[in-house]
Amino acid sequence: MIPQYILAFESSCDDTSVAILDTEYNVIVNLISSQPEHIEFGGILPEMASRLHLRHILTLTKKALDISELNLSDISAIAVSINPGLIGSLIVGLAFAKSLAWSLSLPLVTVNHMLAHIFANCIEHKEIKPPFLAMVVSGGHTELVQFDTLVSFQIVGKTLDDAAGESFDKTAKLLGLGFPGGPIIDDLAKNGNPDFIRFPRALPQKDNFNFSYSGLKTAIRTWLVNQKPEILNDKLPDIAASVQQAIIEPLVNKSVLWARQHKIPYILLAGGVAANSALRKQVTQSAAKYGIKVFYPSTAFCMDNAAMVGAAAIPKFLVGDYAPLTVNVSSKKGTRTV
Ligand code: KG4
Ligand code: ZN
Repeated sequence: MIPQYILAFESSCDDTSVAILDTEYNVIVNLISSQPEHIEFGGILPEMASRLHLRHILTLTKKALDISELNLSDISAIAVSINPGLIGSLIVGLAFAKSLAWSLSLPLVTVNHMLAHIFANCIEHKEIKPPFLAMVVSGGHTELVQFDTLVSFQIVGKTLDDAAGESFDKTAKLLGLGFPGGPIIDDLAKNGNPDFIRFPRALPQKDNFNFSYSGLKTAIRTWLVNQKPEILNDKLPDIAASVQQAIIEPLVNKSVLWARQHKIPYILLAGGVAANSALRKQVTQSAAKYGIKVFYPSTAFCMDNAAMVGAAAIPKFLVGDYAPLTVNVSSKKGTRTV
């Protein structure tokens, strides 16, 4: 069979990425151009991000075609992420994708960025088949999403306030550590005792699959003001491990319980917090007791990239779910069909 290639674009935040993959989830090329220009400002400047996407997207596309030794005439569809994200940044990717789709008379497949993070798993684990439960854990999202087919899903649990990644970041700030806090706490916690302090775990009821992290932030702040300043030097790994445990324990318990109760054989981790080593280990161990298998993308595919956008576009492309050229970007949060 002649392979069908999808040319995919990702520009929702500060990484411009262009990828080409076939409809069997084989990645031919996946190029990412990040934007170090934001570092001196201590955060992402949205207007600068859009302008830098504009500067990089054409060069990156030409490079992707060169490396893959493919021509535009070999491409069967154009895929692009259109929400959630920085509006100006998303517009650059969508406008570029639309122009290509129109000029080449190719179908345009639009993709939700969170859905793309979930489908990053399918690139390296081709055995994944629905039904599966996705745990979406990033700086802005904490969701449990049950997939009955590759194109139909429902959100079965979500955070009522802060996201898991946000909790890592806010705690790191309270502890005077850098940003983003997740990887720093993850590293420190490797040498710490997770039972040093028991911070609260919200919504422990067995029939509640939602999450809440705002109380944890307050508990940590209250605990810190009552400590001697030296404790931050002496016990930092223990504090980090205790905080980390309070964030990940509800994620592990609730995802495994839902999968058990609904006889779902696979749990897929997705988003930046899916890189957390303790989360990966604990959810894998806990799920294994019930014959449930856990997947997570390698670190390269955990970060924003266009290969995951192309992967999420495959099922939509195969069922002919194309977007009209009038489609627009949106900042609506959450895992959605677009
Ligand atoms: O999905 P993502 O790259 O971006 C958005 O939220 O847009 O996720 C970023 C989040 C940050 O909150 C960061 O602290 C967290 O993922 N993160 C981690 C780890 N690596 C990144 N959290 C815990 N452990 C990690 N190893
Ligand atoms: Zn992302």
